[in-house]
Amino acid sequence: MKRLVLYILALITSAGIVAGVASAQESRLKNIKVLTGMSDADIQRQMQTWSKALGTNCVYCHQQGDFASDENPKKEIARKMAAMVKAMNTDFFAGEAKINCVLCHRGATVPEG
Ligand code: HEC
Ligand code: HEC
Repeated sequence: MKRLVLYILALITSAGIVAGVASAQESRLKNIKVLTGMSDADIQRQMQTWSKALGTNCVYCHQQGDFASDENPKKEIARKMAAMVKAMNTDFFAGEAKINCVLCHRGATVPEG
């Protein structure tokens, strides 16, 4: 009887640990359509890279106070740009990240030239 109790306790504990790990890894982001498969930290870094590449800040693409919202139309343009960049790298550079936002934008929201 004591062994059975211990066994059940062990089962409950390990299930709890597994559930805890799973929820820790689960993304808190709600509206990711193109940057799939990236960790939350990588997405944060990507957002800083994009802001710098376009010489702008978060609210240029985002609704103030709600990063998940698609209210700001620039966000959808950025998704299309990201898809274009990915397609170029896949089709012409064997999947290596040779093309990126700053290559065209060079610190401007609308590239010159
Ligand atoms: C050039 C436009 C652009 C800029 C600038 C930008 N973002 Fe984003 N952001 C996006 C797009 C597009 C997505 C959605 C990506 C997708 O669908 O995979 C996104 C998604 C996010 C998300 C995920 C929201 C969710 O819950 O789904 C967060 C958080 C975020 N951005 C934060 C930031 C922060 C912080 C900055 C400033 C440092 C920033 N972004 C700058 C375009 C931008
Ligand atoms: C091959 C060149 C090229 C690359 C690479 C590129 N863009 Fe663009 N992008 C453009 C051009 C050109 C425009 C202006 C289009 C127009 O005049 O309507 C633009 C416009 C935009 C706009 C709209 C700006 C506005 O205010 O109208 C956003 C947002 C944007 N790009 C984000 C990005 C992001 C994010 C990346 C990287 C994932 C990226 N772009 C990569 C060429 C590029």
